[in-house]
Amino acid sequence: MQIRKADALVFFGATGDLAFKKIFPALQSMEQIEFLDMPIIAVTRGGRSKEDLLDRIRKSLKTHGGGIDEAAFGTLADRLKIVSGGYADTATFQRLKETLNGKSNPVLYLAIPPSAYAGIITELGQSGCAQGGRLLIEKPFGYDVASSQELNRAIHRVFNESDVFRLDHYAGKLPVQNILLFRFANAFPEAFWNRHFISSIKITMAESFGVKGRGRFYEEAGAIRDVLQNHLFLVVALLAMEPPAGTDEEALRDEMVKVYKSMRPLTSNDVVRGQFSGYRQEEGVAKDSNVETYVAVRLFLDTWRWEGVPIFIRTGKKLAVTSNEVLIELRRPPRNLFSGSEPGKANRLRFGLGPDLSIAMSAMIRKPGLNWELENVEMVACREASVEDEVAAYRDLLRSAMQGDAIPFARADGVETQWRVVEPLLGDVTPVYEYEPGTWGPRAAERLVEAYGGWISPQRTQ
Ligand code: BG6
Repeated sequence: MQIRKADALVFFGATGDLAFKKIFPALQSMEQIEFLDMPIIAVTRGGRSKEDLLDRIRKSLKTHGGGIDEAAFGTLADRLKIVSGGYADTATFQRLKETLNGKSNPVLYLAIPPSAYAGIITELGQSGCAQGGRLLIEKPFGYDVASSQELNRAIHRVFNESDVFRLDHYAGKLPVQNILLFRFANAFPEAFWNRHFISSIKITMAESFGVKGRGRFYEEAGAIRDVLQNHLFLVVALLAMEPPAGTDEEALRDEMVKVYKSMRPLTSNDVVRGQFSGYRQEEGVAKDSNVETYVAVRLFLDTWRWEGVPIFIRTGKKLAVTSNEVLIELRRPPRNLFSGSEPGKANRLRFGLGPDLSIAMSAMIRKPGLNWELENVEMVACREASVEDEVAAYRDLLRSAMQGDAIPFARADGVETQWRVVEPLLGDVTPVYEYEPGTWGPRAAERLVEAYGGWISPQRTQ
């Protein structure tokens, strides 16, 4: 990995939601591990004073950062500089250039709605602020194939791809990273990690809450654009990729992109969309909206390893529970040797991605009792999630960008390929079934997995 540490962090959107929930806690945590030895420049449109912003940072740390560490907060406050002005105003970028004061490797972090990306990137280029800098942006990276290509063109007019860091926060989650480690830091999984032993993969990302006041945003996204094309495809890539040939950042990302390329584009037969009852009454939502708050898909990878193994993915808002889980279902034993018992059930490998953080493997054993009754028990490796985990996930992603380590970030070709897979589903090509809040979504989604034993309810939930 090439380490070229940045010498300044500039972020746009200091008064936004993302800064409040994730960036300020991550910055405090970086101070605590003494990583932050550079100016932090917040660009804001609101004409806020530094005092105002520090107040907001304090609130953010109390709510999302596990509390205020006065020493770390103090040094963070000393480093903080503010540049005020409109994002479309050339004078803002001239002021930014002056504030950078000769720093030549800034990380330029756009923590703002994507509609403003292209304009800001152009201004960063024209003002000279982008020179020697790295661009850090948050998903969504476009909203279909054409717009993602257009965004990439706008980016590449100013930045080299090697200086672009597209952040999908799922890549920072420890349990998501552990899929990769489970597979490639251990030798044994490779022995069964293929179509001969695995019959299907089922992924559930269920949220019991709704759109949390983000109706306007959600109307332009829907579940497919919001989480399927990015977070959930990232999980599929880690589950399905071939071992990277080397340790450099491109070796791993090459293999991930190959998975996206092997995804059979989804058709209307592979998808069930749903909308929770009451969504249309949310603020910012059209009264006749057909945007999906639930989606279930059946995905196939056209590869030697995965031929014929369906990957079922479901995600939705206002579902029965909040839980994020991957189930790898193994093939059944070829014969039933234990008379009086049911035929052997499928063994499963389970990755709890949150709130449950376990990795569990099930195996059949004999139930205590007179008969030879079988029982599927789990061997579980488990850890509780903590606020520190949440903070560390973002901190480490920012830190990687500041060190120039691109491994956890999405690459232009990967993003465009992901869009190619979901593009046939975008718009109103399939019906949207209404479902009641607190349920498991539309019944129609059962049909997708019928032949594979149905959806399995997550083990530990919130
Ligand atoms: C975001 C989506 O990217 O991820 C949200 O916009 C979703 O709709 C969230 O709730 C889930 O992330 P996490 O980290 O809470 O699982």
